[in-house]
Amino acid sequence: MRPLQPYLLHILPLLPLTHSSNTNTNSSTDILTHINPLIGTTNGGNVFAGANLPYGMAKAVADVDGQNTAGFSPDNSNITGFSALHDSGTGGNPSLGNFPLFPQYCVDDVLDNCPFPKSARAVHYQNGSVVARPGYFALTMTNDIHAEMTTTQHAALFRFNFPDTGLSPMILLDLTDLWESRQNASISVDERTGGIRASGTFLPSFGAGEYASYVCVDFAGARVKDTGVWVNDAGGVERKELFVTRGFNNFYLQAGGFVRFERPGNGTVSVRVGVSYVSTKKACENARVEIPSPLEDFDAIRAAAEDAWREKLSPVEMTPGNTSASAALQTMFWTGIYRTMLDPQDLTGENPLWESAEPYFDSFYCIWDAFRAQHPLLTIIDPTTQSRIVRSLLDTYRHEGWLPDCRMSLCKGWTQGGSNADVVLADAFVKNLTDIDWNLAYEAMVNDAENEPLEWSYQGRGGLQSWKTLNYIPYHDFDYLGFGTNSRSISRTLEYAYNDFCVATVARGLNKTDDYLKYLARSTNWKNLFKPDQRSFFPNGTDTGFVGFFQPKYRNGTWAHQDPMDCSPLATGPTWCSLTSNPSETFESSIWEYQLYAPQPSYPYPPYPNPPNTTTNYY
Ligand SMILES: *[C@@H]1O[C@H](CO)[C@@H](O)[C@H](O)[C@H]1NC(C)=O
Ligand SMILES: *[C@@H]1O[C@H](CO)[C@@H](O)[C@H](O)[C@H]1NC(C)=O
Ligand SMILES: *[C@@H]1O[C@H](CO)[C@@H](O)[C@H](O)[C@H]1NC(C)=O
Ligand SMILES: *[C@@H]1O[C@H](CO)[C@@H](O)[C@H](O)[C@H]1NC(C)=O
Ligand SMILES: *[C@@H]1O[C@H](CO)[C@@H](O)[C@H](O)[C@H]1NC(C)=O
Ligand SMILES: *[C@@H]1O[C@H](CO)[C@@H](O)[C@H](O)[C@H]1NC(C)=O
Ligand SMILES: *[C@@H]1O[C@H](CO)[C@@H](O)[C@H](O)[C@H]1NC(C)=O
Ligand SMILES: *[C@@H]1O[C@H](CO)[C@@H](O)[C@H](O)[C@H]1NC(C)=O
Ligand SMILES: *[C@@H]1O[C@H](CO)[C@@H](O)[C@H](O)[C@H]1NC(C)=O
Ligand SMILES: *[C@@H]1O[C@H](CO)[C@@H](O)[C@H](O)[C@H]1NC(C)=O
Ligand SMILES: *[C@@H]1O[C@H](CO)[C@@H](O)[C@H](O)[C@H]1NC(C)=O
Repeated sequence: MRPLQPYLLHILPLLPLTHSSNTNTNSSTDILTHINPLIGTTNGGNVFAGANLPYGMAKAVADVDGQNTAGFSPDNSNITGFSALHDSGTGGNPSLGNFPLFPQYCVDDVLDNCPFPKSARAVHYQNGSVVARPGYFALTMTNDIHAEMTTTQHAALFRFNFPDTGLSPMILLDLTDLWESRQNASISVDERTGGIRASGTFLPSFGAGEYASYVCVDFAGARVKDTGVWVNDAGGVERKELFVTRGFNNFYLQAGGFVRFERPGNGTVSVRVGVSYVSTKKACENARVEIPSPLEDFDAIRAAAEDAWREKLSPVEMTPGNTSASAALQTMFWTGIYRTMLDPQDLTGENPLWESAEPYFDSFYCIWDAFRAQHPLLTIIDPTTQSRIVRSLLDTYRHEGWLPDCRMSLCKGWTQGGSNADVVLADAFVKNLTDIDWNLAYEAMVNDAENEPLEWSYQGRGGLQSWKTLNYIPYHDFDYLGFGTNSRSISRTLEYAYNDFCVATVARGLNKTDDYLKYLARSTNWKNLFKPDQRSFFPNGTDTGFVGFFQPKYRNGTWAHQDPMDCSPLATGPTWCSLTSNPSETFESSIWEYQLYAPQPSYPYPPYPNPPNTTTNYY
């Protein structure tokens, strides 16, 4: 289906391309050739390099034991498996990577010789063998086993090609994830078909609580030789089922199942992996419906994934300019656009937490990281999906009581600053996205602005009493209503002020004049932390010459102090300030950088009831 696209983003006239249309099927002009999913996969970029559909839940790639936050990195570390759930672009702990498969041989075909645990089985891949394309990922390991994969929305199709060694190909499944966060898991292996069903409870990588994950694995193209389960470094054919717990005292139990095959003539074993957050049955259904014939479907599934990406990128066009843009620049551009549609993931139909006909998106990782650029861009280049994302946020508010700031793996994630879903909603409002219940949206925004939750570490805003009485978030606030990390008083003040501007914007659009005035007034609160005579010095003591910076302020109105250079590479103090590392009055940036963060207009208050005239658009 081709959604109507009300906007066409013209990128003028920076970059000449040899084409002005990406619907051309000539492969040398195919837009997908300008996308390189490997960009940003080293040095902490943590982006997903594998196969997936736009906003796809199934994300298949090789997992390494080096920089594996998103599964794969060409950082010269080793492959530990191939799994079908991942996140893109997150920091901190690795996310997902549940139930990795690993193809290998056992020396002399003796089961006891097979390395089962991650550290024992890990092997490198052949340099130059990695192929990463939209909808497709492949590489050859140093044991000469070739792996390739493609995906549908909730299932992955792998092909493992085993060279002829005279040994029986083995594929094992590990009851773990990238972070080794498994709390418990179970597996059963069908003796006849080799089919594996598994489920487990895991932890979200940046949030509270836990989630369940399910997988349904079926093999095709080779006859089953034997099957069984493994625990730590030993496997056996006696048992076909297993339940494992968390382990004990840092001893993480390694366990799973395996299937050995008679090597088929062409050496290729096809593996269909259905995934689900609802049940094993649903995982199998997803697999059967989306990949009915694993032996025949690979090329068609890959082609469908490529078409889905071409379609999603089609609203963006480059008009040839008169200076030549490097191929590298074009690749950066198109890869950047491609990356805006990996996370959040469309988990509609895969939410076990509540019954609803509304869409459900997950992997908001976090809205604090995405509200400035990704969501406003999607509002323009993919309004149909952005509208569904907003509806999902509102449905989450309806069922969990709060708009999320961060959300992953069906859990609440840690809030980094303000209630920035408010910004996503206001952006959708002023850009006229359709099918959204704006009264519900406004209710959710006012909830953020007025009600302090007990746990503001993962929803809403903290310090609202001070916000309403002092008109800033004080340094060392006294807040007995709710609890969160009591830091970031400057960045939270700036973000709450902009959040309130967003509430005011929607209030005005809904003709709620009193609310509009109230939140417009609060949107100027950032001024209360601006210290006009504050200076800033280089580490060598030289005055930068700039005067006037944000500073923290105590409840009694006395200024506290944070060096404007802190939380930056030029700091004499901490260079990195997060929730847990050097919590400071600014979050993950210096006061210098936050100087730029008052995007709302600062017109004389109050402009109502004489609203801005038509020549001045205060939005
Ligand atoms: C594809 O496009 C290239 C560059 O415009 C051109 O040289 C080539 O002949 C085209 N091939 C086909 C099959 O149309
Ligand atoms: C990768 O695995 C090989 C064995 O295949 C081992 O020799 C090597 O040390 C491993 N490399 C790393 C970085 O762990
Ligand atoms: C692959 O390349 C890296 C760096 O270029 C090198 O360190 C490594 O030894 C190579 N590995 C193999 C298996 O050739
Ligand atoms: C697995 O762990 C979860 C979370 O700790 C728990 O709710 C569940 O009951 C456990 N399952 C089994 C079968 O013990
Ligand atoms: C390998 O051979 C099997 C059985 O002959 C066939 O069904 C399958 O399509 C072949 N796979 C590939 C990748 O050629
Ligand atoms: C490119 O186009 C611009 C605007 O039309 C013009 O001013 C400029 O001289 C051109 N540059 C070259 C290198 O032709
Ligand atoms: C949204 O709709 C309003 C009212 O019809 C219109 O004035 C405004 O220009 C529209 N905004 C966009 C971004 O299309
Ligand atoms: C707000 O008031 C204007 C002018 O009276 C009207 O055109 C508009 O439809 C109203 N909007 C809403 C959401 O009620
Ligand atoms: C101090 O550092 C700044 C920035 O690097 C530099 O411009 C300035 O010359 C230095 N001053 C002295 C006295 O070294
Ligand atoms: C305000 O509170 C701070 C911190 O308790 C204290 O250092 C400062 O002296 C107080 N200022 C006044 C004017 O009381
Ligand atoms: C509209 O606002 C602009 C900018 O404040 C001002 O220059 C202009 O005179 C105003 N026009 C009217 C008709 O009030």
